[in-house]
Order: sequence, then C-alpha cells, then structure tokens
Amino acid sequence: MEAAAPLVIEARAIAKRFGHVTALRGVDLTLEPGEVLGVVGDNGAGKSTLMKVLSGLHQPSSGELLINGEAVRFGSPRDARQRGIEMVYQDLALAGNLRIDENILLGRERTRAIGPLRLVDHAANVALAKQHLDKLRIHVKSVSQRVEDLSGGQRQAVAIARATAFDAKVVIMDEPTAALAVREVRRVLDLIKDLKTHGIGVILISHRLDDIFYVCDRVMALFRGANFAEAPLGEVERDEVIGWIMGNKRQEDAPVGAGAN
Ligand SMILES: Nc1ncnc2c1ncn2[C@@H]1O[C@H](COP(=O)(O)OP(=O)(O)OP(=O)(O)O)[C@@H](O)[C@H]1O
Ligand SMILES: [Mg+2]
Repeated sequence: MEAAAPLVIEARAIAKRFGHVTALRGVDLTLEPGEVLGVVGDNGAGKSTLMKVLSGLHQPSSGELLINGEAVRFGSPRDARQRGIEMVYQDLALAGNLRIDENILLGRERTRAIGPLRLVDHAANVALAKQHLDKLRIHVKSVSQRVEDLSGGQRQAVAIARATAFDAKVVIMDEPTAALAVREVRRVLDLIKDLKTHGIGVILISHRLDDIFYVCDRVMALFRGANFAEAPLGEVERDEVIGWIMGNKRQEDAPVGAGAN
C-alpha cells in the first residue's frame, strides 16, 4: 500500500479499434501530479490515439480510465477538460485572426452585467490573460497582437497558456516542437518545466529524443499499439530508447540501471 498522492491519470488496458484496424491493444499508462511523462514510438505505434482517448476525443473500445483514483468515461474533450485534462493539438486549434488574450480565454471570457445585459469585460480579460502569461513567464509584446502574426514558438506558448488558464491538472502535448526553430524549442521545453513547478502533469509525445531527455521524468515506449518498455530518465540511455522505438530491448542479463552510478 502506498501513501503517495493518487495518480492523476491511470489508464488500464486501453484498447481502441477503428473498424478492422486495432490502434491500441490493452495499453496501461500512469501519471503522477507534476510529472512529465515522455511517450515515444514509431509512426503508427498508437501514441496520438492513446492521447485522444485520455483527452476525451476518442472513446476506448475497452479498458478503464481513472482520474485521481476515480473511474471516468469521457464523452467529449469537454468532459476531460472539466476534470482538468487539456490537450494541445498539433495544429494548435488557435484562432489566427483573434488576439492573444482572446485566444487564451476563448469561450471562457469574463463578463459583467450592465442592467439586463451581459457584456464581455474586455479589461478584465486582458488583465487575466496577462496575469496568466506572466505566471508562465511567457513574454509577448502585447496581448493585443493577433496570433497569426506570431512565430511558431510563440503560438505554441499561447496554446499552452490557453490549455493551462483554467485549473488544468494535466496537459497533453502531441509533438509540440516538431515545427519549431531551435531557440523556440528550448523555450517551449522550459515552459513545460514551469508547468511542472505549478504541479501540472505533462504528457509529451515527441520523436525528438533531445526533448525527451531534456524535460521528462520518465519515458514510455509504445510498439504496435502496446506497451513496450518504460523507465525513469535517469535509468535509461538514449540508444536504449531508440531501440525501444524500433522494438528492441537490451539483453536480459543487463538489468535496467546496472552500471549507472
Ligand atoms: N481515426 C482513425 N481511423 C482509422 N485508423 C486510425 C485512426 N486514427 C489512427 N488510426 C490508425 O491507428 C494506428 C495508430 O495511429 P496513431 O496516429 O495513434 O499513431 P502515432 O503513434 O501517433 O504515429 P505518428 O508518430 O505517425 O504520429 C495507425 O495504424 C493509424 O492508421
Ligand atoms: Mg501521432
């Protein structure tokens, strides 16, 4: 029996079939509060599908999902969001023609009553957006900039700010650095470290092992829709993780951690 805080996410034996295609075959996943979990695997291994199950976009064909120890069934991303699970999609789903503050608060703007009317409280929203960006140490020239005028890295930061603006416990990111320039990659990864200091758990899918090794506490590999291997980052070498992605494990007579000091 462990006295530790409950796992923020526990997925048990998640399977997902799309017609004749089996994308996930009984996958387990755990995430502790404030933990950064890297998920790796070859193209088609099932990474995105698993994250879409965790974030309510797909319903699993079978298996169980627990949030803070409680069994849940998400009918939609809205259900997942209500439980504090947010996903930053690869295309970011930002509205390019809207301002930074509008994107961060989209659909959740503060309003105020003027007589019988409810109006968007613009000043309150700007203040709220600024406060949140400051908390995450995201610097922008002005929150009134349109998102379409930002660089890829800044957009990623705005998407992360949006995902974490309202009580997120977990942020799931699918290849957040794939399209970014080197300097911007570092900024996004540092932002993930900041989320961790706020107690937010992060699941990071990346093909870039540099990202995984820079920011993650633990890495898990999927292979052909199933769990293949996982380890805390301090107990695994890069080459070994590359092997996992290709479906190779090291010889049994070399236990994980042996030789490390
Ligand atoms: N909506 C869908 N309908 C049918 N098949 C799907 C669907 N989504 C995913 N698949 C299939 O499920 C399998 C896993 O796909 P998934 O996108 O989860 O892989 P991935 O690990 O994210 O790969 P990549 O690294 O290329 O993004 C693939 O065979 C894919 O073709
Ligand atoms: Mg994918």
